[in-house]
Amino acid sequence: MSTSQDRLKQQAAEAALQYVKPNTIVGVGTGSTVNFFIDALASMKNDIEAAVSSSDASTQRLRKIGIEVIELNNATEVPVYIDGADEIDEHFRMVKGGGGALTREKIIAAVAQQFICVADTSKLVGRLGQFPVPVEVIPMARSYVAREIVRLGGDPVWRQGFVTDNGNLILDIHNLDILKPVQLEEQLNNIVGVVTNGLFARRGADIALIASESGVQTRTR
Ligand code: A5P
Repeated sequence: MSTSQDRLKQQAAEAALQYVKPNTIVGVGTGSTVNFFIDALASMKNDIEAAVSSSDASTQRLRKIGIEVIELNNATEVPVYIDGADEIDEHFRMVKGGGGALTREKIIAAVAQQFICVADTSKLVGRLGQFPVPVEVIPMARSYVAREIVRLGGDPVWRQGFVTDNGNLILDIHNLDILKPVQLEEQLNNIVGVVTNGLFARRGADIALIASESGVQTRTR
């Protein structure tokens, strides 16, 4: 049985269908909200050219419903990327990567012309950082990166037993008071051994579809 939060995730996800352009390649994120989007996309599977996917999990789900998934390198353009968020602020900057797919998500977000964030209202925050910021790390650099994160004022916690689709590790940074998200995103990326981090501040969303009990609100920048 679905919870009321699931119902809101589903409403936000279904509202994103209207942004999918026929005969184009759709960028697909990762997570429980995006799973609702993938399920809804089944109704358009004959209208779209193909999808590019940010995780093995989303790829499997897309293929299961008969949507072709192609390599991003073979995609001439990605007009729209649909993805969820763990937190989103009023400037559409986000924390992402709770599911560990942050690197591929950030790559597709960089390529896409339009990033549409689908979320229930619980994801809206005044300031980012309550949700731990994930950092994908090359395994041999884990301890070094953790020490550097402590120098930046965060408390890194190794997500033990978890390996990303790229074969790397995740450190979740707790207790960050993120006053300057763009700056912190760059500082984290500059630590040697970091592949990428889950702050999506430099390239935030363009449109946010936020579902609450009063309906889905479309927010644009
Ligand atoms: C996956 O790595 C994440 O970035 C997700 O997009 C994000 O965690 C949102 O997930 P839910 O839709 O499951 O809340």
